[in-house]
Amino acid sequence: MNLDFPTQEALTHCITDTNVPGFPKPYKGKVRDVYVLDSDKLGIVVTDRISAFDHIMKEAIPFKGQILNQLAAFSFDKVKDIIATHIIDVPHPNVTIAKKCDTIPIEVVMRGYLTGHAWRVYKSGKRQICGVDLPEGLKEHDKLPNPILTPATKAQEGHDEDISEKEILSKKIVSPDLWNDIKEKAFMLFERGSQIAAKQGLILVDTKYEFGLYNGQLTLIDEVHTTDSSRYFYLKGYEERQAKGDEQKQLSKEFLREWLMDNQFQGLEGQDLPDLPDDFRIKVFERYAELFEMLTGSTFKPQLESNLNDKLVSIFKDAQGQSKT
Ligand SMILES: Nc1ncnc2c1ncn2[C@@H]1O[C@H](COP(=O)(O)OP(=O)(O)OP(=O)(O)O)[C@@H](O)[C@H]1O
Ligand SMILES: [Mg+2]
Repeated sequence: MNLDFPTQEALTHCITDTNVPGFPKPYKGKVRDVYVLDSDKLGIVVTDRISAFDHIMKEAIPFKGQILNQLAAFSFDKVKDIIATHIIDVPHPNVTIAKKCDTIPIEVVMRGYLTGHAWRVYKSGKRQICGVDLPEGLKEHDKLPNPILTPATKAQEGHDEDISEKEILSKKIVSPDLWNDIKEKAFMLFERGSQIAAKQGLILVDTKYEFGLYNGQLTLIDEVHTTDSSRYFYLKGYEERQAKGDEQKQLSKEFLREWLMDNQFQGLEGQDLPDLPDDFRIKVFERYAELFEMLTGSTFKPQLESNLNDKLVSIFKDAQGQSKT
């Protein structure tokens, strides 16, 4: 990846925190700063913050916000015939103007492969996850006979917890009708995401969807099929690597998780968050950019941003103005 400016510039221009004069304080998620623009509109700023194991790293990744926001915009567009999406406008590489939805407090995780959390559950001897039965004889990263839905509760704090469909219904988190709708959409979305990935030489391993209601309509929110919400493998050589027991080449976020584990950090109590060295931050950026380019088939063009807060004032005012006309 050739940048038009020195890498040092990129490292020092990371967007870690926004504060837009004249607008109420944003809700700060791990990655996004979310501004309420009016009763039905959000201004979502995707920052360069990066999290892993539910911890925000001390250092940010250059242009990660732009890559993620634009990848989400690309992917939302590819699924809008399946379900209404929250996108109103993407007026800046870091910003999405979105429909303000009542969020459904479930992380709707879809898995096509036995990887990550599902593999850890399986390895511990269990043959069921979120109430879904798993066959005997699988190894890490094997393809599952069919994609499975493994929902998790969206915890206010700390780790999200697995939940079964039965519990979702018995706890009345959503009505049975709405749940059926969510399930149907999740399977359709995962199929679409897998097809798009395959065309580009990738495997969509697993992914997380978030849904909300906008004027009572089920709507896909947050982000979709991005490298933060999904795992991808390279399709080429996948079968051979599985047969030989070789590692699958991991992309972007998994690359960070592995580095952290090599540096004795898994988000457990008493462990210290390591500093991310500059050269590693650049490597992570390159992985994100590579995946963006593979998935979208277009080159990522970074936009060096020196005064985002000021720009956000006019972007947000415009968005507010549009709703009044
Ligand atoms: N269209 C939308 N309407 C309402 N809320 C939304 C919408 N899109 C995203 N959100 C919420 O905005 C927040 C985005 O911030 P971010 O992704 O950084 O948070 P997170 O750390 O993943 O999650 P959380 O803050 O909920 O723990 C999430 O809480 C997400 O559920
Ligand atoms: Mg999130």
